[in-house]
Amino acid sequence: MKTKIDKLRELIRYHERKYYIDAQPEISDASFDAFMRELEELEKAHPEFMSPDSPTQRVGGGAALGSRMPHRNPMLSLDNSYDEAELREFAERVGRGLGGAPVEYVTELKIDGLGVSLLYENGILVRGTTRGDGEFGEDVTANLRTIHAIPLRLVGGAAAGEGQALALREPGKGGDINDIPPVLEVRGEVFIPKHRLDVVNAQREAAGELPFANPRNAAAGSVRMLDASITASRPLDIFVYTLNYAEGFEFAKQTEALETMKTLGFKCNPHTERHDSLEGVIAYYQRWLAKREEIPYDVDGIVVKVNSIAQQEQLGATSKQPRWATSYKFPAHQAITRIEKIGVQVGRTGVLTPVALLKPVKLAGATITNATLHNEQELSTKDVRIGDTVVLERAGDVIPKIAAVLKERRTGDEVVFNFPDQCPTCGTPVKRSETEVAVRCVNAACVAQLKRRIAHWASRDALAIEGLGPARITQLVDTQMVCDVADLYTLKEDEVCRLERMGQASAKSLIRQIERSKAAPPEKVLIGFGILHVGGHAAEQLISHFSSINALSRASLEELETLYKIGPRIAGTVVAFFAQNQPLLQKLKAIGFHCFEETAARRSDLLVATDSFFSGKTFVVTGSLQGITRADASAQIKARGGKVTSSVTGKTDYLIAGESPGSKYDKARELGTQILAADEFFEKLGVAAE
Ligand code: IVH
Repeated sequence: MKTKIDKLRELIRYHERKYYIDAQPEISDASFDAFMRELEELEKAHPEFMSPDSPTQRVGGGAALGSRMPHRNPMLSLDNSYDEAELREFAERVGRGLGGAPVEYVTELKIDGLGVSLLYENGILVRGTTRGDGEFGEDVTANLRTIHAIPLRLVGGAAAGEGQALALREPGKGGDINDIPPVLEVRGEVFIPKHRLDVVNAQREAAGELPFANPRNAAAGSVRMLDASITASRPLDIFVYTLNYAEGFEFAKQTEALETMKTLGFKCNPHTERHDSLEGVIAYYQRWLAKREEIPYDVDGIVVKVNSIAQQEQLGATSKQPRWATSYKFPAHQAITRIEKIGVQVGRTGVLTPVALLKPVKLAGATITNATLHNEQELSTKDVRIGDTVVLERAGDVIPKIAAVLKERRTGDEVVFNFPDQCPTCGTPVKRSETEVAVRCVNAACVAQLKRRIAHWASRDALAIEGLGPARITQLVDTQMVCDVADLYTLKEDEVCRLERMGQASAKSLIRQIERSKAAPPEKVLIGFGILHVGGHAAEQLISHFSSINALSRASLEELETLYKIGPRIAGTVVAFFAQNQPLLQKLKAIGFHCFEETAARRSDLLVATDSFFSGKTFVVTGSLQGITRADASAQIKARGGKVTSSVTGKTDYLIAGESPGSKYDKARELGTQILAADEFFEKLGVAAE
């Protein structure tokens, strides 16, 4: 039976590749579905043969959005060239760096999506991460597994080293596992085809959420879902372009690496070319610029890479980008439309932002209906009027902006917009300050601010409550079911159910999501508070120092100011927030937010032992530790009298290295710092690893 199941899986994988990777299906959808059903039934009858790399296991259990993961080596970005002269300068730098040796270039399309890294061990996909900030990404394995163009298991037959790439194996003649590097990491771009964006946006609007502004945001948003079944419903695709690591294998050229990746079963973009001179590169750019709109996915330029890996190594990289590659950007997408109205939005901190409501227009795959006018000053400097014809522009990853006002098209009917002196929502007189351009509504009880605060609380970087989009929030606030974020936690399924356009299933799922968010770690809750200037980085710094929100809330201004990277600006807003928001904190504690519970790990400020292994020693924690976040590990160490710092130096006594430890590990090896593996660390702590 095992053989039968294996054969069926191999057959399905073959047809998955034919369909999703080669776009050359050999069988009908119905036959494919029949094979899948047969496999599902066999697996159900024989659970002992279940395997996570089975094609039936794309949407599985487990947390879909996991912890922050260090990258093996940084995921660099690219230097940009915006015109031919800049491209020639790049080529000159390359020429100089190589002492005038001949250079072969490879050109690829620059896909505008989300950079990801995929790790395979013995041919099986074990981890997928986002690019994140380049050093650390987010573990999105469960979500990436749902993308059919990402193989869960690789195909053998990559006879690399000989520079040979074998053709796709047919089922039954499967490749030899020995041809697959035991550890392999590739990088690529996840994207949503342009024409599928409207479908995704329709789904989102039906769920009470705002549409995505462009395919890139749609791809990024879909990959960073908490619920992998939602990711699975999105038409995501991938092109893989970097073979970052292949244990035991060496490649001489990027073109060879691309061929090998294809042979292993990855989907690579077909429009890659090799050039002996820069003229070929320029011709490639012009050809694709002319065809840009016809490409079914968003492409924001081309990537030019030195083909020889030896030359790439010779050229090296800066801390941000390789010296052997550049992107040659296409000009920004533009469209012309008219401003029908100007409105004012009130943000979470009360700032009033003018917004142009536009005659809907298509721009780079998305329908655009509004654009920010930033602030009162910008509005008057640019002299933007209601009725004006404007040039809209979308460059790279940014939200569309108004690039120019076509004043020559004015008819005389245009109307100057008078910036309000009162908050458009609550009517409170606005406050203008000498020191900033922002105009603010200073009424802390303003409903518009409240809606924005709740939206921020529910946002992905904070408590990540899926299904709580702007439309739902408006309903909850307008019906006065929710007057602050704590009220979300007292909502009952049957009252939510009575809201318009809300079914039983959605209500249930919303309540579940809200409930789940109580377990959020302290740094996410801190981000959720939306304290001015406290974003992800500051929140992490603060929690890694104080270990808990309770301890942070007791910190003095002086204490905060002395912290590395926390200046007087942040210190001031943090202290002010905790001084003004004790009632909210008490409510959250009463609700049962986990991060307010005084567990051993979070009592570090109360309980400092002096006689443990840890006392008086300095530690750095890196990599992912099973079952415990780095912040909690740090708290445990501090609770036992140790000190935790963020970088490995001569003063570090121990590096605690979890999985995929990255550059800190290399540094510790270099300095001869003692390294504790995760289980040794747990042993010293006196707790068993989960
Ligand atoms: S190479 C060190 N190739 O563009 C080499 N990147 O702006 C860096 N991208 O972070 C990556 N298409 O996410 C490379 N064919 C391609 C690409 C590509 C899209 C993205 C990638 C990168 C970003 C840099």
